[in-house]
Amino acid sequence: MSFEPVLLARINKPDSPKLEGYRADGGYATFERALKEKKPEEVTAQVKDSGLRGRGGAGFPTGLKWTFLPKDHPGPIYLCVNADESEPCTYNNRILMEKDPHQVLEGIMLACYAIKSRCAYFYIRYEYGTAYRTLQAAVDECYAAGLLGKNIHGSGFDLDIFLHRGAGAYICGEETGLIESLEGKRAWPRIKPPFPAIEGAFRKPTIVNNVETLACVTQVMKRGNDWFKSLGVPPDPKNPRDAGSYGPKLYTIAGHVNTPKCVELPMGITIRDLVDKHGGGVWKGRKAKAVNPGGLSMGFVDVNAKLKDSDLTEYDIPLDFNGPGKVQCLGLGTAAVTVIDDETSMVDVLHNVCQFFSHESCGQCTPCREGTGWMLKIVDRLRRGQGRKEDLDILVEVSDRIGIMPGTTICGLSDGAGWPVKTAIRKFRAEFEAAIKGGGKSKYAKALPLVGAGH
Ligand code: NAI
Ligand code: SF4
Repeated sequence: MSFEPVLLARINKPDSPKLEGYRADGGYATFERALKEKKPEEVTAQVKDSGLRGRGGAGFPTGLKWTFLPKDHPGPIYLCVNADESEPCTYNNRILMEKDPHQVLEGIMLACYAIKSRCAYFYIRYEYGTAYRTLQAAVDECYAAGLLGKNIHGSGFDLDIFLHRGAGAYICGEETGLIESLEGKRAWPRIKPPFPAIEGAFRKPTIVNNVETLACVTQVMKRGNDWFKSLGVPPDPKNPRDAGSYGPKLYTIAGHVNTPKCVELPMGITIRDLVDKHGGGVWKGRKAKAVNPGGLSMGFVDVNAKLKDSDLTEYDIPLDFNGPGKVQCLGLGTAAVTVIDDETSMVDVLHNVCQFFSHESCGQCTPCREGTGWMLKIVDRLRRGQGRKEDLDILVEVSDRIGIMPGTTICGLSDGAGWPVKTAIRKFRAEFEAAIKGGGKSKYAKALPLVGAGH
């Protein structure tokens, strides 16, 4: 099926971040039409009916989230844009912010109009200096053109957008950690409920949406719900709770591939197609061994493991909101696909992963703080050839126990730290056992730094 990118359609145009160019391509006409012709509730209804699900990782239905705001609240109501993109090998938001910031800003304007917010905070990862400067220039252009500020185009609608640079920690991307950081505090996630829609920034109702989600809002409102639903994967008829995986999606391809890049495709492409057709295949003529389907916290896919009653393998799973769950991974996550080649040590890869999560745990909850540290210590022991037979079962047990599902921790970081551990051990157990037996001698190479355009 031929597919024309929409979210990335403008990124290679000269001066793509400039207002003039965006205007020339019909930019802001959708927002201006909504101001004149639609009530805020109609915008919310359209986004809800489109089936758009959040692109930050959790896939929560966007329009539904907006309806959780208290009715007839006197305000203020805030929109927080989550641009603290820190999941390893994820850089789809960065491309949008650097190359087409006005598409994102138009989505913010539409969302704020829909939720009756007059103030949006754009919380952007500290390391994204170019994106920050590009966005600030775009925001300034909008103020100068009367698209932001008081009484926009005589509609009576006021809107301010403030950029706020992050604090250089992964946990600032957790929505309540982000809010705490925005308020000037340490980014310690809050216990939910209350969810931010009820009590968020400065204890006021707040919607937190990801950058790509807001770019999708622009496109949904511009092109309509029939267009959006013509792309992607409809709900699974066998699962009445499935909301489907509609629309275009930005996938980032990283790790041991020939051409790491960000591509836009309809939801539901398989890992195999993504890597072989779009990522130029596995590098150095090697084969893939494992893949993270959507960021480290989703766990590992074993590309050689056969799917039940099929000739296909886990490499053939579709990357929609349901696909990775079918092969015991956590979910689609950020759709950042990271490939590990067949000459690389999974023990070493897992060591990298455990280092990351142990470092990034905010330390509030004992199971997460201690559990991520224990897992790192054990995997380090395995890597140094001092592993013990019982270590693998201990690792799986710790990774299962620190998850958010048993209700032991405040946020999802601990769950995300556990999935790569349990999937690596369960799916590549023989390699871990060989590492214990070999006492440090391994036929595999050390894990090289992961190659990706973002990290
Ligand atoms: P979540 O499932 O707890 O929440 C998703 C969203 O729905 C939140 O905005 C939440 O406030 C809202 N929500 C859920 N239930 C609600 C209710 N009953 N009432 C009102 N609002 C409700 O997931 P969470 O913890 O926000 O996100 C986890 C995901 O984040 C992971 O799947 C991971 O992939 C992703 N992630 C993304 C990163 C990135 O760089 N983009 C970094 C780290 C994690
Ligand atoms: Fe902090 Fe981990 Fe608890 Fe999340 S689960 S609040 S990162 S200690």
